[in-house]
Amino acid sequence: MASKWLKGLAGVAIVGATGFGVFLWITAPQRQDPSVWANLGDPDLAHGREVFFAGGCASCHAPAGSEGDARLILSGGAPIKSNFGTFHAPNISSDPNAGIGGWTLAQFGDAMTRGVGRNGEHLYPSFPYGSYSRMTPKDINDLFGFLKTVPASDKVAPAHELGFPFDQRLAIGGWKFLYFNAAPRVELADASDMVKRGQYLVEGPGHCGECHTPRDALGGFKPSEWLAGGPNPEGEGTIPNITPGSKSIGSWSAGDIAAYLETGFTPDFDSVGGTMVEVQKNMAQLPASDREAIAAYLKAIPAVP
Ligand code: HEC
Ligand code: HEC
Repeated sequence: MASKWLKGLAGVAIVGATGFGVFLWITAPQRQDPSVWANLGDPDLAHGREVFFAGGCASCHAPAGSEGDARLILSGGAPIKSNFGTFHAPNISSDPNAGIGGWTLAQFGDAMTRGVGRNGEHLYPSFPYGSYSRMTPKDINDLFGFLKTVPASDKVAPAHELGFPFDQRLAIGGWKFLYFNAAPRVELADASDMVKRGQYLVEGPGHCGECHTPRDALGGFKPSEWLAGGPNPEGEGTIPNITPGSKSIGSWSAGDIAAYLETGFTPDFDSVGGTMVEVQKNMAQLPASDREAIAAYLKAIPAVP
């Protein structure tokens, strides 16, 4: 009897260990092929600056409440609250020790597009690489070039405050397995070049869905509710629906949306509030054609009531 029981237990252990091994194998961090980052040439720094604002890096990586040039000191930001605990965005200034001054383009590119850290570890998706994975290698090269020109800071950001099991980076592999891919968020038939540009900006660097799309219990987007709004993942209040089905912006013209992104004023002269304030400041730094492209895309996506 006992031996049967032991055999059973051993069997469970083997199946368990095999299962865990398979899990590790399926969910191992995956870098890009190094050729992706080779031969991109000298970065276009002026464009890199635009990518920086499109990507909203300062919103998390600059100290909270900083204005003007202080937003370029990427020494680590305000605590980011989530259902899993509190994250602290690290220093990504050009400091070689505290920041990413010593990183190669390939290391930076793998962080941005694969969520893989410098030492090959999984990064938490509170760093919105689930969106940045859609960025082109050229944009990443230009952005990396621009980041080298911003001031170095030797300040070390605090460690994340996460409970078990969320403090285990291995678990992130499971999240990636379930949710991480670079497929378009919505299929748009016959999209114009302008709408395609808007799609790239919103689904990629702009990471608008990270706030505007509702999530399931494990933190993945609900795909049929793309940009349909929902509870604020950081706590208080709700995030508005920005599809054509929205009670509010559904009636705005594309010009109204572009003007809101530029000035922060709605067609009724209300001003932008909450976490959108930072996003709008960044959007104001983009070329007008990019804001118009974003507006065109928001008009073209499926309406969710
Ligand atoms: C919503 C907040 C948020 C935004 C926006 C954001 N990040 Fe981050 N970033 C984080 C967090 C949190 C981490 C830490 C992730 C971890 O520890 O796994 C991080 C980590 C990183 C890392 C890895 C650093 C390291 O030391 O391992 C890099 C590189 C990075 N971010 C670059 C950027 C760039 C470039 C942008 C803009 C295009 C950006 N981030 C925008 C929150 C953000
Ligand atoms: C950090 C979270 C966050 C991100 C990222 C974000 N938004 Fe918002 N957005 C908000 C919040 C919160 C509001 C509500 C603002 C208010 O109450 O004034 C909002 C409001 C809006 C509105 C006005 C909706 C209305 O009904 O008044 C538009 C349009 C909009 N966002 C577009 C975008 C676009 C485009 C992007 C990507 C470039 C984006 N947002 C990224 C949080 C975010």
